[in-house]
Amino acid sequence: MLKLTYLSHSSFLLNDGNNKLIIDPFITGNPTMPLKLEDLDPQFIVLTHAHGDHLGDAVKLAKKHESLIIAVNELANYVAEQGCQAHNMHIGGGWNFPFGRLKFTIAHHGSSSPDGRYMGEPAGVVINMGGKTVYHTGDTGLFLDMKLIGELNKIDIMLAPIGDNFTMGIDDAVKAVEFVDPKLTIPMHYNTFGVIQADPEEFKRKVQSIGKNCRVMQFGETIEF
Ligand code: NI
Ligand code: MN
Repeated sequence: MLKLTYLSHSSFLLNDGNNKLIIDPFITGNPTMPLKLEDLDPQFIVLTHAHGDHLGDAVKLAKKHESLIIAVNELANYVAEQGCQAHNMHIGGGWNFPFGRLKFTIAHHGSSSPDGRYMGEPAGVVINMGGKTVYHTGDTGLFLDMKLIGELNKIDIMLAPIGDNFTMGIDDAVKAVEFVDPKLTIPMHYNTFGVIQADPEEFKRKVQSIGKNCRVMQFGETIEF
């Protein structure tokens, strides 16, 4: 069993009944976030990269709940310097955590901390949890190796940015769905700021037109798989 909650932007909460894991916890300053920081008590925090709309409240949450932050080496060191527990990984590497296996993938983007330091490469992440395989692409442009990610992992749920400007827009994200061939795609990284306005229903129609499943989640909505 896996419960997946879309917190908004690129932030998702995964819960298998024993473990709570948050990806990219951008709560404070996120105008689309329906939850408060006090509502969240993750054991695990996964960061795709260090930009403020992904690193978000990770340090604060991790210190409060003694959560383990999972990130690529440079970003893991950065949060460890601030007193958090971190598990350092890097792209292409996987590790078996108490919730399941997690592997970082490439993403075409940037990654610097809010104070401008280099934070290693941005990443996507494939997470096996609660009997499901979830691929969160992180912030990225379209890339052909998504085909390989889909070939090596039977993806149940793909979380794909559609907001354009900083990441894939709708049409490139539809192509990404074609490459990865997941059972279900959920759009993310849209309508948070002015430059990433996108219509998730348009994305859904286009994904359905290539014979694939898409679900547009409300901010704060939970689905159980
Ligand atoms: Ni970013
Ligand atoms: Mn972003």
